[in-house]
Amino acid sequence: MAASLQLNVKSFRPIALPNSASRYRYSAKPARIRCSAASQSKRYTITLLPGDGIGPEIISVAKNVLNLTASLEGIDLRFQEMPMGGAALDLTGVPLPEETLLAAKQSDAVLLGAIGGYKWDANEKHLKPETGLLQLREGLKVFANLRPATVLPQLVDASTLKKEVAEGVDIMVVRELTGGIYFGKPRGFSKSENGEEIGFNTEVYAGYEVDRIAHVAFETARKRQGRLCSVDKANVLEASMFWRKRVVAISSEYPDVELSHMYVDNAAMQLVRYPKQFDTIVTNNIFGDILSDEASMITGSIGMLPSASLGESGPGVFEPIHGSAPDIAGQDKANPLATVLSAAMLLRYGLGEENAAKRIEAAVLATLDRGFRTGDIYSSGTKLVGCKEMGEEVLKSVDSQVPAAV
Ligand code: IPM
Ligand code: MG
Repeated sequence: MAASLQLNVKSFRPIALPNSASRYRYSAKPARIRCSAASQSKRYTITLLPGDGIGPEIISVAKNVLNLTASLEGIDLRFQEMPMGGAALDLTGVPLPEETLLAAKQSDAVLLGAIGGYKWDANEKHLKPETGLLQLREGLKVFANLRPATVLPQLVDASTLKKEVAEGVDIMVVRELTGGIYFGKPRGFSKSENGEEIGFNTEVYAGYEVDRIAHVAFETARKRQGRLCSVDKANVLEASMFWRKRVVAISSEYPDVELSHMYVDNAAMQLVRYPKQFDTIVTNNIFGDILSDEASMITGSIGMLPSASLGESGPGVFEPIHGSAPDIAGQDKANPLATVLSAAMLLRYGLGEENAAKRIEAAVLATLDRGFRTGDIYSSGTKLVGCKEMGEEVLKSVDSQVPAAV
C-alpha cells in the first residue's frame, strides 16, 4: 500500500518538534512491552538506499530505530537494501540501476542515506552519483520536497547565529524537486557563434508544476502558522514572473493563508537577519536547494535536518539533507539524527503512522536532553559520542517511552 501525497496532503502536518522537551522526560518506570505478532496487522516494505560515505552508518542506525519503533507500535516493516550512487557505480556501472528504481517503486517508502564522494567527482555527468539521485526523484515523480529547519532548545547554542536570533525558529521549506533548471531543456555544452565553448541550462516551469507545488505549500502553511512566503526572482526571470502569477492565482483557494513574495537574494539575507519572520517558504528547485542549506545552519547543524520528497502517488523518498561527508566516512563520527528524523518523516508522511513518527521524534529529543552529542553539535558539558553510540542511546529512548507495565 503505497502512500500518496493526495492522501497525505489533507493530513499534512509539519514535523512537530515541541519547544519544550520536558514533555519527553523519561518515565519513572521504564518498561519493556513488545507488541505480540498477532497485533501486527500493518505491513510495509521499506527500500533502504545507504549510498556512499557516511550513508551506510547512518542508515544502519535509522533502520534499528525503525525496527524497534515498529515493533512497539504494532507495525511490520520489511526492509530491502539496494545499491545507489557511487556504491552502485562501483557495483553495476550506473548510479541508479533499474533494479533499484523498480524496487523503490514497488515499496511503500524509500529511506536514503547520502550519495557522492571524491572518487566519482570527475566522472562524466551521466556517471555521477548525483545523477542517480536526480533519476530517482524523477523516476518516483517526487515533486514536493519538505525541508523543515527547526531550532531545538537543546541545540540553540550550536547555531552560529546569536541566541536571540536563532531561538524559536521553525521554518518549513517547500522545494519544488522535479522541475526548473535541474531538469529543463535545452541543456548541455556547445559552442557559441564565435566558437567559444559554452555550458547552458534552462529554467522552465509549466503551469501544472507550479500549481501542484503551490497546493502542497498552502496546505502545509495552513497546518502551521498560516503564513507562506513564495521566493522567486521575478524582477529578472520570466520563469519566476510566471511562478508568481500562478502562486497568486492559487492563493484565492486559501484565503486563510497569508501569502507574501520575496526575491531570492533578499530571502537569503532575511534568513540570517531575522529568520523568525518565516513560517513556510515555497520556492523552485535551485533556490530551494540553496535556501534549505542556509536555513539548516540556523539550527546549528545540517546533521540534524531531515527531509521528505513526495509525489501525487507512490512511495516518497526520505533522506537527511546533508551529504555523504566522505572526510569522516567510516570513522563513526557522523550524526545519525537527521536520518533518524527522516525515518520519522517516513512514518508520518509516507505511511501515515503518526504515533510511530512521534515516538521517534520524542526519542531524539530525550536523547539530546540526556546530554548525548555527536561532534557536529557538541558543546562543553555534554557527552561526545559517535554515530553508533548515539544510535544506541536513541534506541534506549524509544524503548523508555513504552507505558509502564502494570
Ligand atoms: C540536495 C542535494 C542534491 C540537489 C544534489 C546532491 C544533487 O544538494 O538534495 O539538496 O542539488 O538537489
Ligand atoms: Mg542541496
